[in-house]
Amino acid sequence: MTSPAPLIPYVRPTWDANEAEALLAVLHSGQWNEGPWIARLEAELAGLLGGDGEVVTVANGTLALFAVLRGLARGAERPLYVASSLDFAAGPACALQCGYDLALVDIDGASLNMSAGALDELLTRVRGRHDRVVVNPVLFAGRDDGLAEVAAVVEAHDAWLLEDACHAAGLYLDGGARHWRPAAASRASVLSFHPTKNVATGEGGAVFTRDRELAAYLRSLRSHNIDRAGEAVPELALTRGQRNPWFYEIASPGLNLRLSEFHAAIACVQLSRLRDNWNARLAIAARYRDAALHHERLRLFMPEDGVRSAYHLLPAALGPKAGLDRHQLFTRLAAANIRLQVHYVPLHRQPAFAGQAYVSAARFPVFDDLAPRLLSLPMYPRLSAEDQARVLAVLVDVLGDR
Ligand SMILES: Cc1ncc(COP(=O)(O)O)c(C=O)c1O
Repeated sequence: MTSPAPLIPYVRPTWDANEAEALLAVLHSGQWNEGPWIARLEAELAGLLGGDGEVVTVANGTLALFAVLRGLARGAERPLYVASSLDFAAGPACALQCGYDLALVDIDGASLNMSAGALDELLTRVRGRHDRVVVNPVLFAGRDDGLAEVAAVVEAHDAWLLEDACHAAGLYLDGGARHWRPAAASRASVLSFHPTKNVATGEGGAVFTRDRELAAYLRSLRSHNIDRAGEAVPELALTRGQRNPWFYEIASPGLNLRLSEFHAAIACVQLSRLRDNWNARLAIAARYRDAALHHERLRLFMPEDGVRSAYHLLPAALGPKAGLDRHQLFTRLAAANIRLQVHYVPLHRQPAFAGQAYVSAARFPVFDDLAPRLLSLPMYPRLSAEDQARVLAVLVDVLGDR
């Protein structure tokens, strides 16, 4: 009996003895939170993202979105949150829990990013109804195409931009010098270090912002708004006129949103391999592009210049004449021990969001057409040329070649 071919997942974290060594160093140090690794990670991330901003790390990308959205809603009576329907649920879910109204808009059929036209239509329609509007486009799969147009629409409508850069860490190498500059036209940029992401720590997230006041708000919120310099209650702060060394004050309720030192240590090592990993992703993307695949039966979504992406994902869509549906394709690849994934089930179809007034009233012609056919191919830095050839051979077998 022949043994089955080894599993090729759609994503796999990259790590080696360096992560293990960093973890052991934290273990031995005895300082498992609020220590030097967090400080180092925040400084290194800020350097990567442009130097002139601040990074506040938190326990995951969802909480990064939650904290920023709470901060951006301050002082607003009826804030509105806008995302595209092709996104992870984290932003919309946090927005609803932070008291925003929710609107979703359609995507651009080439980049899969938020459609600037659909955004403009929405913001024109709701003009005057909300005293604050936060637009939160995801850099889908790690691409920045169309973001400049989205930013222009946001500015024209006096709204605020907040980038979801959870897919985009690699695109931000060198402060986005070659690409979109993080948090340059926006209030902040949010990152995730989920195990599938280009910088992975297990659970982790960060906010990058050039707004010092917002950064201070986030730092305070993530540690229960504990203030050791506070003076609101002098009889608790002082003994015989001397400051009590144990004193702290909490003026408003906060949370524990902190990342641990273990996670920060892994993230520092991961950051050091971001450039090599991005180059590996570029090579994998090029091999997909150059393969003899029948591109009308399986359309690949890649930027025209080949490099304007972090290649967090390699999205593809079955063509109308593919000869099989997505479920059948998943089954055929699973039989060869190859896994695909779907990013994402349309948010406007999710029960959690579908009933929101602006969502049920909206139309999504581009995404509705694409959604049943959209999938993600295996993409991770250590996907070997041999394993990728196996994926391509099965795809050619199922879909034909060009
Ligand atoms: C686009 C997007 N936004 C937000 C998140 C939430 O990040 P996390 O899983 O770290 O909470 C993710 C990742 O999972 C994501 O892909």
